[in-house]
Parts: sequence; structure tokens; C-alpha cells
Amino acid sequence: MLESKSRRVQDYVGSLEFDRRLYRQDIAGSVAHARMLGRQGIIPTSDAEELVRGLQVIQGEIGGGQFVFKPADEDIHMAIEARLFEVVGEVAGKLHTGRSRNDQVALDVRMYVRDEIVEIVGGLREIRQALLDLAGRNSDVVMAGYTHLQQAQPVMFAHHLLAYFEMFSRDDARLGDCVNRVNVLPLGSGALAGVPYPIDREYVARELGFAHISENSMDAVSDRDFIAEFNACGAITMMHVSRLAEELVLWSSSEFGFITIGEGFTTGSSIMPQKRNPDLAELARGKTGRVYGNLIAILTTLKALPLSYNRDLQEDKVHLFDTVDSLKQTLAVCSDIVRSIEVHGDRMRAAIQDYVLATDVADYLVKRGLPFRAAHGIAAALTHHATAQGKALGQLSLDEYREFSPLFEKDILKLSLETSVMSRDVPGGTAPSRVKEALRTAHVRLEESRARSTATD
Ligand code: ARG
Repeated sequence: MLESKSRRVQDYVGSLEFDRRLYRQDIAGSVAHARMLGRQGIIPTSDAEELVRGLQVIQGEIGGGQFVFKPADEDIHMAIEARLFEVVGEVAGKLHTGRSRNDQVALDVRMYVRDEIVEIVGGLREIRQALLDLAGRNSDVVMAGYTHLQQAQPVMFAHHLLAYFEMFSRDDARLGDCVNRVNVLPLGSGALAGVPYPIDREYVARELGFAHISENSMDAVSDRDFIAEFNACGAITMMHVSRLAEELVLWSSSEFGFITIGEGFTTGSSIMPQKRNPDLAELARGKTGRVYGNLIAILTTLKALPLSYNRDLQEDKVHLFDTVDSLKQTLAVCSDIVRSIEVHGDRMRAAIQDYVLATDVADYLVKRGLPFRAAHGIAAALTHHATAQGKALGQLSLDEYREFSPLFEKDILKLSLETSVMSRDVPGGTAPSRVKEALRTAHVRLEESRARSTATD
């Protein structure tokens, strides 16, 4: 009875099941700490070397899959320390000098987030690259641009894709900013008050690649803002993914028929043989929910926590890990989906309703001196007239145009999708020359992001 109770408690309190993925960071942190203890004469150098050796052995064991995780070890920190006793003997007891699991775990999680941000930024680059390639391959395709999911004005398909490039570029920048607040060394804060040994925090920070050391020990052991911030970045990225996924679902429907998603990323129906369901895009859209949940979960865990460390904080990792996994998988799969897309430019063009040129008719009159509001009224009346006649704007004769305004000349008959997009020749506009230029600079920006991350690797 007693035994089963303690087992129950053990299971409840333990985190080894999920925090074992921090083993690399935990060992790297311990190695730096042991070296510092030796350098500072807090423990003999030979002991420090023995600790480092033992830690490296354990790293090999865990990496090689030979390490036996025992449920009796509460978390990854305890599991590694217990094994260290077996590998190097009693000297293992010196590793925890001037350190607490409170600053240790804060350190590990910060290193972990820092490492994963590099991966996720890589995933963002992958999807940005896939979007650029798709845009580049279809740079002549014109489609209707939508507002309120109603056709509004013609745009270049590449322009539409580049909008997503911008979203994912901001996500890259956001993570780059987030990392500045992650990259602060908490070690040396002890349990909460600092430690009574002459430690060298700057040395440890340099060894582990931290840009700063924390300023306040009580804050350092209880601060998880960086997880909330990271989860918020993840939530925003998933929101972007969900928007893209939604469009892919719409576009691949038979009603739109704008694209075909590669066979590997759709599934057939067991009942309806004609179906090709965009399950992967739907799942990407669906996983957004859990990533939002992870943001709310960490915020709720942190809410009203008194200083300093509280065991509640152990729960921070569950949601962090889930956001990391969801993001990495989703970005990779979505990049594959985008690469698999076959674009039906003819369908996109055929689907464009004639009235998307109505604004151009108004703009035509404005350029000939009419105030925009008046011009808008005439264009609306013309569109009504054409619709009533069952004609396209382009099928009206010059005489019909002139019934609505004497300002119309022969060149109004030249109005087309092409003249429309070409006229949007402003920075950020959809004129084909602007879009080609935007594609070029997007490639450069992607290279810059690549260079930034190889520089920090
Ligand atoms: N597994 C714990 C966590 O993730 C480690 C810190 C435990 N500290 C303590 N004082 N019990 O937060």
C-alpha cells in the first residue's frame, strides 16, 4: 500500500519522461560549471577533470541509447547525477557545489530554446524558399485578389505568395529578437539567493555562449518569460501557417481548382473514390489550436506565482516541447506541400470575374480629372449596366461607355487584366516588374538570414 502510494507520488512529481530531452544541455551546463569550480579553486582541478570525464561518458551513453532511465530518478538532472556517482564515484557529490536544480533547470531550458530557435528559423527559411520557388515558377500567372473572400482586383499570383513570404520573414525576425532575452545565463543564482562561493559567472557564460548573465538571482530562477515569448512567437507562426493552409484547402477544391496538391500530401476517401482530401494542410491548420493552447498554458502556469522558484514551473516544459515539435514538423510538412503544388494558371485566369476591373474604370476617369467618388459612382453604374446586359466590361462598346461619361476615349477598350496589374506600379504593388523585383530582394533577404544563422552557429 505504502509502496504503491510512493510510486504514485513518484510518477506525479517526476518529469524524467519529458525532460530527458534536455540531457545535452544539462551535461554541457554541468561541464562548464565543473570547469569553473576547478578554475576558481572551489574544488581541486583533478576533481573537476574527473567530473568532466564522467559527464562525457554519460553523454555517450545517453546519445548511444545505452543509458538506463530509472523512474526513481525524478528528472534528467537527478538521473545524470546518480549515474555520475556510478561512473566517477564519490567525487560526483562535488558537482552540485554552488548550484541548485533551480538555476540548473533554468539554464538547461534556456539553452534548449536557444538551440531550437536555430532549427525553427531554419524551418522558416525552408518554407520561405519553397514559396519563392513556387512564385518564381509561376511568375506570369494572374489571379483575382480577394477582400472579404470576394474578388476585388487582379493581382500576380507571385504577389499573393510573397505576402506569405513577408509573414514568415517577420516570424524569423521575431525569433531573432526573442533569442536576445533567452540568451541570458541564470546559473550562479543558486536556489534563489546566489551562492556563497567565489564563482565566475562570466566564464560560464562565455563557455556556454551566453551574451549576458542574469541581474537578479530571484528573478533568474523563476523567470519563464522567455518560454511565454517563444510560445507566442510559435503561436503567431502557426497562425500564419493556418492562413496559408486554409488557402491551399480552398484553392485545391473543385470549386476553385487553382492548384493540385501533390499526391503524397492528400488522401483518398474510403467511400468516395473521386476525393482527394488535403489532410496535411488541414492538420497544419488544426495544429494551430494546440500551439495557441501552449501559449495560454504557460501564461496560466506563471500567473500569480509568488517569487521565486515554485514546482509549478516544472510544467513549463510540457507545452514548450509541444510547441517546438509542432512547429518543426508543421514547417517541414508545409514546405513539402508547397513544393508539391501544381498551379493551374489558366483556371485562375478563367475564374476572374470581369468586374475586378471596375476600380480601373474609376481610376481611368480620375486620371482624366474626375473626383474619385464621382468616378466610383460611374464605374458602379457601368458595371450594373454590363451585368444587366449579360456582358463583360470589356465587351461594352465605346458608345455605351460614353453614355455614362464623355471622358471615355477609345483606349478604355484596351483595359485588361494586364493593364490593370501593370498600373499598380508602386513600391509594394502588384505590377509584374515590381513583383519580379520583390522576388529578387526576397532571395537576397533569405540569403542574409542564412548568413546570419551560419555566423551564430
Ligand atoms: N524538474 C524540476 C523542474 O523542472 C527541476 C527543479 C527542481 N527544483 C526543486 N526545488 N524541486 O522544475
